[in-house]
Amino acid sequence: MARLDITHLAKSFGPMNVLSDVNLHIESGEFVVFVGPSGCGKSTLLRIISGLETMSSGQLRIDGTLMNDVDPAQRGTAMVFQSYALYPHMTAAENMGFSLRMARETKPTILDKVMKAAAILRLDALLERRPSQLSGGQKQRVAIGRAIVRQPKVFLFDEPLSNLDAELRVRMRAELIDLHRRLGATMIYVTHDQVEAMTLADKMVVMNGGVVQQCGAPLDLYDDPGNRFVAGFIGSPKMNFLKARIAVTGPGRVTVSGIGGSGAAIELPFPGFDPALSEIEIGIRPEHVRLAPEGAAGPHDVEADVAFVEELGDVTYIHADMPGGERLIVRSDGLRYRGGRTCRARLDPGRFLLFDATGRRIRPIHAH
Ligand SMILES: Nc1ncnc2c1ncn2[C@@H]1O[C@H](COP(=O)(O)OP(=O)(O)O)[C@@H](O)[C@H]1O
Ligand SMILES: [Mg+2]
Repeated sequence: MARLDITHLAKSFGPMNVLSDVNLHIESGEFVVFVGPSGCGKSTLLRIISGLETMSSGQLRIDGTLMNDVDPAQRGTAMVFQSYALYPHMTAAENMGFSLRMARETKPTILDKVMKAAAILRLDALLERRPSQLSGGQKQRVAIGRAIVRQPKVFLFDEPLSNLDAELRVRMRAELIDLHRRLGATMIYVTHDQVEAMTLADKMVVMNGGVVQQCGAPLDLYDDPGNRFVAGFIGSPKMNFLKARIAVTGPGRVTVSGIGGSGAAIELPFPGFDPALSEIEIGIRPEHVRLAPEGAAGPHDVEADVAFVEELGDVTYIHADMPGGERLIVRSDGLRYRGGRTCRARLDPGRFLLFDATGRRIRPIHAH
């Protein structure tokens, strides 16, 4: 178990800035997931923590000790890669014990540690097999075993499940959660898959373009994203974004109009709204947009052209185009879609998130 503190970390490769002013505090025993699109700098940050890569500026501390110039082998970290990186000519047991042999541990010690790791990972029966005789999931468990035997203070995982099929990935996630609970170690896990991040993380670090966008518990980020990027990145299907005009219409009240190019105008309580803002974007998740029931249109209804319908049995997603051309995804749980070129969708204004032109979240300022 170990605490990590990263302050003002930056990294560039030649003229290219890959990480900018990263500040992170990772508690001892926490399961932290770095998530973001491909190329956003997740692996680079993980490699800097491990010592495989150097930072251009900033500081990394593990349990308070400055690690910038500490050799990777002395940091107490162990990395698990997507590619497994097992030695093909060695058995599972030899692969797992290899780093201990390099560290000149005695044979009985190595055997003991390998057996313990094998028991944790349920690999006991497979120890004499070579990698070619193991399935993808078994190889990945051997790769994790190789990290466990080193008893690291911090486990570093770089997309370790990406090569596995969907079903196995779900099973391995459950195993990792269980492993984390049993070992109680600090774990840092990199993935581009937001669903994987949501299911594994105590704390999620959402990155984009080398910048940490937001950091927090998965559901806090889902419910209360700090900007448009985080709002759009977390959640499947994605949040809808609809352009609208906004004007202050009374004390603590605003009216949003022209929502998605439609005629809809909705009044919202919004204390402290900046009257200088006029063009905004509304973010609203598909589960907060429903098919309107038959009958008279309600004040929060919009008409949209149906583009296609995903019938998943328990839930239906209607993908429709607003008059302004923006896509609106409607989630329907009970009501199945009954056909028709257009649909009437009912927005829940209580769930509107507002963003300015730069993608910053506009929040109400509550008067005391
Ligand atoms: N050794 C390197 N030399 C030059 N550019 C690199 C090197 N490693 C990574 N990069 C670049 O840094 C950016 C971030 O890469 P990476 O950390 O691998 O992203 P991620 O893991 O989020 O997909 C990418 O644009 C990548 O091309
Ligand atoms: Mg990567």
